[in-house]
Amino acid sequence: MAALPKQARIIEVGPRDGLQNESQPISTADKVTLVNRLAQSGVPVIETGSFVSPKWVPQMADSAQVFANIERRQDVRYTALTPNLRGLESALAAGVDEVAVFAAASESFSQKNINCSIDESLERFAPVMDAAADAGVPVRGYVSCVMGCPYEGDIAPEAVRLVSQKLMDLGCYEVSLGDTIGVGTAGDVKRLLDVMLKSFDAGNLAMHCHDTYGQALTNIYAALEHGLSSFDSSIAGLGGCPYARGATGNVATEDVIYLLNGLGVQTGIDLGALVDIGHWISRTLNRRNNSRVGNAIGACGV
Ligand code: HMG
Ligand code: MG
Repeated sequence: MAALPKQARIIEVGPRDGLQNESQPISTADKVTLVNRLAQSGVPVIETGSFVSPKWVPQMADSAQVFANIERRQDVRYTALTPNLRGLESALAAGVDEVAVFAAASESFSQKNINCSIDESLERFAPVMDAAADAGVPVRGYVSCVMGCPYEGDIAPEAVRLVSQKLMDLGCYEVSLGDTIGVGTAGDVKRLLDVMLKSFDAGNLAMHCHDTYGQALTNIYAALEHGLSSFDSSIAGLGGCPYARGATGNVATEDVIYLLNGLGVQTGIDLGALVDIGHWISRTLNRRNNSRVGNAIGACGV
C-alpha cells in the first residue's frame, strides 16, 4: 500500500453545496445552527454560503444573514463562493475568512452555471483576485466537471490541467477538483491526477466528489494514494448542483471521516458529533440521511 498522508483537511460544504439545491424554504436560523454545530464538531473549514445572484440560486440569498449570526470560532475558517466582484464585495462585508471562485473544465457547464465561457469567467475572476488580495483574503479555485460533464460527456485531463493552471496563475492557493455529477471512477482519478501532479503539488489540490454513482469514497482513497489530503464533503450527503441534473449530493462527511479514521489519517473531527448533526439536519429538512455511516450508527440523540 502506498504511504498515505498522516493528516487530512476536510472542507465541509454542506451549508453551501448541500443546501443550495433544496427547493423548500430553510430558515436562516437552521442554517446558522448547522454551521455552529459543524464548527463544534472540529471541522476546520466550513463553506458557509455563496454570494451569487439570488435569481440563479435563491436558497443562498440569506448568506449575509447567516454570516452575521454564526458564532465565529478562531480555529474555523468560514468561506463563501463569489462568482464576480459584486459577490466578493458582499462576502468581504459579511466578514468571510476566505472565498472561492468557480470555473469549469467544460464550456457547456460554464455557460449553464455562470452564463459565460471559461475564458470569460477567468477574466471576471481577475478583479476578484485583486480585491481579495488587497483585503488579505485567500482565494480557492474550483474546477467543475473534471471527470465528466452532464452536457459534453468525457472530459480530458488536459482540459482540467489547463483551467487549473489559469486559476493558480491568477493566485488561487488551491484548486478543488469537482466531480460535479459523480461519474468518475478510481481509474479516472488516477488518469486525472497523473496529469495534474506533473504540474502541481498534491498539497495544492483538493478533491470534491459527488456520490451519484457510489464511487466517491473509492475515488478519495485513490486520491489519498496520490498524496492528496484535502477533501470536500457534505454532512448527511446533502446536496446536488442546480445546473447538473441528476447529480446527487457530495460524499457524506461522516462516511469520509469513518474511512479516514480506519486508515489512521487524522482530521481532528468528532465522528459521533457529525452523526448527530447529520440526523438532525436530515430530520429538519425532512429528507433521507444519505450517510451510510450515519444510518449504520443510528440516531444517538438530539
Ligand atoms: P448573469 O445573469 O449572466 O449576469 O449572471 P448579470 O450580471 O446580468 O446578473 C444577473 C442578476 O443578478 C442581476 O440582477 C445582477 O445584479 C445580479 P438584476 O439586475 O437582473 O436585478 N447579480 C448578483 N446578485 C447578488 N450577488 C451577486 C450578483 N451578481 C449579479 N454576486 C452570475 C451571472 C455569475 C451572477 C450568475 O450566473 C450566478 O450567480 N451564478 C451562480 C451559479 C451558482 O451559484 N451555481 C452553484 C455553485 S457552483 C457548484 O455548485 C459547483 C461546485 O460545487 C463544484 C462542483 O461540484 O463541481 C463549486
Ligand atoms: Mg459541488
